[in-house]
Amino acid sequence: MRLVRQLSIAICLGICVVLGFNAWLRLGQQRQDYRADVQRDHATIGRALASGVEFVWVREGKDLALQVVEQLNRRENQLTIRWVWGRAGEDLTYRPLRPALVPRAGQKAHSSVIPDKDGMPYMLTYAPVDVPGGRHGAIELYESLAPEQKALRSILVRTILTMGVLLLLCIALTVGFGVLFVARPLGTLTRKAEQIGAGDLDGPLAFTADNEIRDLAYAMNTMSRRLLEARERAEQETQARIRALEQLRHADRLRTVGELASGIAHQLGTPLNVVRARGSMIAAGEVTEARTRELGQVIVGHVDRISETIRQLLDFARREQPRPTSTDLSKVVEQTIALVEPLAHQRRVKLAFTVRSSSARLRIDAAQVHQALINIIVNALHATPEGGKVEVVLDEEREAFVISIRDGGEGIAAEHLPHIFEPFYTTKRAGEGTGLGLPVADGIVREHGGSIEAESQLGAGTVFRVRLPKAA
Ligand SMILES: Nc1ncnc2c1ncn2[C@@H]1O[C@H](COP(=O)(O)OP(=O)(O)OP(=O)(O)O)[C@@H](O)[C@H]1O
Ligand SMILES: [Mg+2]
Repeated sequence: MRLVRQLSIAICLGICVVLGFNAWLRLGQQRQDYRADVQRDHATIGRALASGVEFVWVREGKDLALQVVEQLNRRENQLTIRWVWGRAGEDLTYRPLRPALVPRAGQKAHSSVIPDKDGMPYMLTYAPVDVPGGRHGAIELYESLAPEQKALRSILVRTILTMGVLLLLCIALTVGFGVLFVARPLGTLTRKAEQIGAGDLDGPLAFTADNEIRDLAYAMNTMSRRLLEARERAEQETQARIRALEQLRHADRLRTVGELASGIAHQLGTPLNVVRARGSMIAAGEVTEARTRELGQVIVGHVDRISETIRQLLDFARREQPRPTSTDLSKVVEQTIALVEPLAHQRRVKLAFTVRSSSARLRIDAAQVHQALINIIVNALHATPEGGKVEVVLDEEREAFVISIRDGGEGIAAEHLPHIFEPFYTTKRAGEGTGLGLPVADGIVREHGGSIEAESQLGAGTVFRVRLPKAA
């Protein structure tokens, strides 16, 4: 509506200016014409009267000539006709209104517009008359121009009325057409633009009127269509990237499983030996019934431990859809420790876990965080020499939980440190490392809105800090 209002105001102003200018020209012309008419009449009357008076003056004498003038004056309503002497001061009765304007002998009749004492204009004409005796007089014609003012006023009123009617008509038309052809279609376009801004690209616009607004609507439709196609393409690409990332993470997980499996297999040897020995005793029938029950319970206990360890490994290896749930972070770290414990044991490295947070509940994808932590802890175990120690601490900050993994290993050289999160960056021998553990862990933590920082000194060990925001 604002545009329509501005348009109406602009058109109305234009009309006012044109009509006003036209009225001003007409008024000027009218005044000029009216005065020219009056002046012409005065000249004609003056000339006729001058020769008539001159004739009577010569034939019948001065008195009759003056009587004729007075007689004529009495008959006229608007026009005042007087006899005046050319030179003032001689006779007050025949003194001219403006002595300076009286023409000299031999000059032509002369008219002027002069204001009266109220400021109203009047036309004053002097027609010279030569009278016997060498004296010199004139016929004075005096006429108020008030009718001219009246005519001008009526023109002004008519112009103002026309202007008013035209303005009303114009406002009605511009508002009507403006709403129909501009405001409404623009409103629709604005809503459509807002929809596009909010991501809703459906519902193309349809305008029938053949104008620029329809062109704009077509352009917006084309833009929406292209955006939709681009969005679909981006979605497909994102899906493909997610699938690739999932595959990469799964491959990384399987490699870790292979590594953990050797430690686990090593650790399963002891309970399996216990089970075998107890089973053999029962099979040989060397034990009493009460002892058999006791041995059976020992066997069940060890088999449960074996199953639990294998289940944990299989759980970790299983490919799962990423899904964040409310999780106790300390449980996730505990499970991680349990899974890497056999590897630590195999490498004769002590693995310690300390929780310094009362409750570490937050919304995360537990399986993924689990994978990220295993990658970092396995690296720490690799770096730590036999008899060394890896410490895992869960801490709480104001807005995040922090898991620190500190090892007493060889550390990372300053020139290597900026590269350790790059894919395929490894310092391990061929076949021992692919350089994917840290990039995968970093990707997972970033997806949770967190970060991993590494601090290391050659020979003094390394600390990795995994920061997961509470409002992830
Ligand atoms: N705790 C650590 N101490 C010393 N160096 C480390 C430590 N953690 C990582 N690194 C260095 O960072 C490199 C990259 O680690 P990353 O886990 O990405 O790959 P990798 O361990 O070499 O191979 P992968 O994990 O794929 O089997 C390692 O090769 C190692 O040089
Ligand atoms: Mg690694």
